[in-house]
Amino acid sequence: FFANVEQVPGDPILGLTEAYNADPRPTKVNLGVGIYYDEDGRIPLLRAVQLIEQQLAAEAKPRGYLPIDGLPAYTQATQKLVFGEGSELIASGRVATAQTIGGSGALRVGADLLHKLLPHATVAISNPSWENHRAVFGAAGFEVVDYTYFDNASHGLDFAGMIADLQKLQPGTVVLLHACCHNPTGADLDTAQWQQVAALLKDRQLFPFIDMAYQGFDKGIEQDGQAVRIIAEAGIDSFIVANSYSKSFSLYGERVGALSVVGPDAASTRAVQSQVKRIIRTIYSSPSTHGAALVAGVLGSAELRGMWGAELTAMRERIHALRAGMVQKLAALGAPEFGFIQQQAGMFSYSGLSKAQVDRLRDEFGIYAVGTGRICVAALSQKNLDYVAKAVYDVSRG
Ligand code: LMR
Repeated sequence: FFANVEQVPGDPILGLTEAYNADPRPTKVNLGVGIYYDEDGRIPLLRAVQLIEQQLAAEAKPRGYLPIDGLPAYTQATQKLVFGEGSELIASGRVATAQTIGGSGALRVGADLLHKLLPHATVAISNPSWENHRAVFGAAGFEVVDYTYFDNASHGLDFAGMIADLQKLQPGTVVLLHACCHNPTGADLDTAQWQQVAALLKDRQLFPFIDMAYQGFDKGIEQDGQAVRIIAEAGIDSFIVANSYSKSFSLYGERVGALSVVGPDAASTRAVQSQVKRIIRTIYSSPSTHGAALVAGVLGSAELRGMWGAELTAMRERIHALRAGMVQKLAALGAPEFGFIQQQAGMFSYSGLSKAQVDRLRDEFGIYAVGTGRICVAALSQKNLDYVAKAVYDVSRG
């Protein structure tokens, strides 16, 4: 049966890590995958997470199945973080949240849900978007189209182009939006721009699907979540939010994500929730316990939550410093045109480097970046900054 199976290309992001791991050069740097590394090049295990883990180990609880939609303490804490403590949507029973296998799992369960409820819809994603968005929605059976998002000349948002394209979409189109720290470009909307987009979505009857994988990685938990609040306040009665704790809790391998559906009233929301549970049951039955218990434990303790908030702040401030350092070093080498790296938000910078330049970074310097020129700024450190800046300078000068 498997004699004539077609070989498909490796994943454009995770495939890079495989190549990086196989590279014997000691100076190699992985700027491919979106992972935050500390000054020693390690993925941090946050102190708040360590403390709750010790506590849970001491409690030695049995590991029964979680409910299909996950640990209630986790989904409740998630709602508060995503929609805000005093959210009217939560109070009126208009949000149903399911724990999912990472943010990717939330996207796929959400995509399957929408494909069942809106089978004839098209999905519009930003150009460019996270490599996997097109694949996830395509795999769920949707036709995926692009809307203008990035201006290559200014290395920032093309807001006029975005609005013009959103205006052309058919009512009922699902619009995938990045809440903050846009992946891959690092170009975000400001408050006024979000308000304009929210009004347009409502007016044109477009369905917002918000992907929030980096809450807290640019300005802070509250500010980075503003897109969700603005869309809720615009009076859009139904939308979806997929969120992830991979980055904000440094719990990548624990696969901690959530899917929140917002409905027009409590009864409709319960009906949508029943559909979400049926989808999950037929894919993986129920999620796993450990990562969710860690997140719920931290968010449920005032002390650990405060500690986590401080650790998250330290990670984002360090990323800001690394952006500034990179810009400064490139300018000192004679490449002041990279100043835009400091304007971009979150883990990534769309460096403007071409595929050929990215190939040279890998072949000549052992520096791995995504073929589109996306580099993970959060994988830089004071130790590799000079090396990376010089390499970027060299390839940019041909
Ligand atoms: C990334 O964009 O690098 C991360 O979101 C990891 C992934 O799954 O691609």
